[in-house]
Amino acid sequence: MLLEKRRLNYDTLEAVPFAGALGAEIQGVDLSKPITKQIFIDIKQAWLDHQVICFRDQDITPKQQISFAKKIGSIHQHPFMVPMKDHPEILEVIKLENDAQNFGNLWHTDQSFMPNPAKATMLYAKEVPPYGGDTQWSNMYLAYEALSPGMKDLIADLKVENTGNKNKTRGGQAKKDRYKGHSSLKPKDPPKGLKTTNFHPLVRTHPETGRKSLYISSHTQGIKDFAFEEALPLISFLRKHIQKPEFTARFRWGEGSLALWDNRCVMHYAMNDYHGFRRIMHRITIKGDRPR
Ligand code: SIN
Repeated sequence: MLLEKRRLNYDTLEAVPFAGALGAEIQGVDLSKPITKQIFIDIKQAWLDHQVICFRDQDITPKQQISFAKKIGSIHQHPFMVPMKDHPEILEVIKLENDAQNFGNLWHTDQSFMPNPAKATMLYAKEVPPYGGDTQWSNMYLAYEALSPGMKDLIADLKVENTGNKNKTRGGQAKKDRYKGHSSLKPKDPPKGLKTTNFHPLVRTHPETGRKSLYISSHTQGIKDFAFEEALPLISFLRKHIQKPEFTARFRWGEGSLALWDNRCVMHYAMNDYHGFRRIMHRITIKGDRPR
């Protein structure tokens, strides 16, 4: 595995990596102030270079978060979750003191079951527990590059079947039932006619960096033209492979932290290790292209 040397200095900001695999804290940017053209160019480049960028101690309104997100692309609405009433662009990710379950406690990439999955996710911390509740990411470029030539050949043209509901590899439970008993997340039926099972390449090429990466998710429940029993061992192997610690990074949130990650080349996992405490995040996902 070849870890590439990452860029640290940009014209208007600095990127301070927080792990060897991916992830950098951005210093020198106040997101409550106007984001000039050059600042945005640097933010975007740092995001592409580090896959996940995090800003600390930001004090922004929902409107400011939405307008920052819109610079990256158009807002993607979650088909299965009810958004904030006053700001439908934002999904409030809440775990309260008495909740057992949290949102996103599986290795996944957002909306991989949609025809055009989310390219980016922006998560802004409103309230964080005194300890725990970190988010982890895994670098899918590295996970792909670390595979043997034989495995790369085998999977080169495969298409994975990603489904948003009743995933067979997770016992076929409907999303609505998975979130039952969770006081804060409000599941809903997806809009009529929306197809929430889609096939995507298992090895995709990033439309902006041109790099190849693995594209698998907790939503993956099959491989095109394979029987379920045949696909499962390969899916299970890859799900385990992407969790190798050397591919991952983990971020300790503070109130006012904001993370922006690239769903085209990272997977993420929300830790559920802060029982008895409250965690409130404002999440925006941004539309992407069809993976190729
Ligand atoms: C998510 O999966 O989008 C939630 C991540 C988190 O809350 O850390």
